[in-house]
Amino acid sequence: MRIGTAPHDMHIFVCQHSREGERASCGARWNASDAVAELKRLCKEKSLPARVSGSGCLGPCEMGPNIMVYPQKTWFHEVGLADLPAIVDHLVDNRGIRSSDSGA
Ligand code: FES
Repeated sequence: MRIGTAPHDMHIFVCQHSREGERASCGARWNASDAVAELKRLCKEKSLPARVSGSGCLGPCEMGPNIMVYPQKTWFHEVGLADLPAIVDHLVDNRGIRSSDSGA
């Protein structure tokens, strides 16, 4: 095993998990692949040094679609594609602030 330092100031995880059945899942509620592509485009446009990744289930499925941002410890719930510009603006404005620091 080797241990390294993450090369990005911020990592944005977009839940893409989709499951069949009665239990809610983010991937069943929106096109998460489009969300990942649009977030990448917006981060580049705003010069936000973030890595954007599609992810598996993040946990709070009932509140999805969910986006989680580390190390800022910020969550966005019930997200739609129209919310993505506001999310990136929020992250640009609060890039060094963890949600627990700001009271959010
Ligand atoms: S399916 Fe997205 S948080 Fe569980």
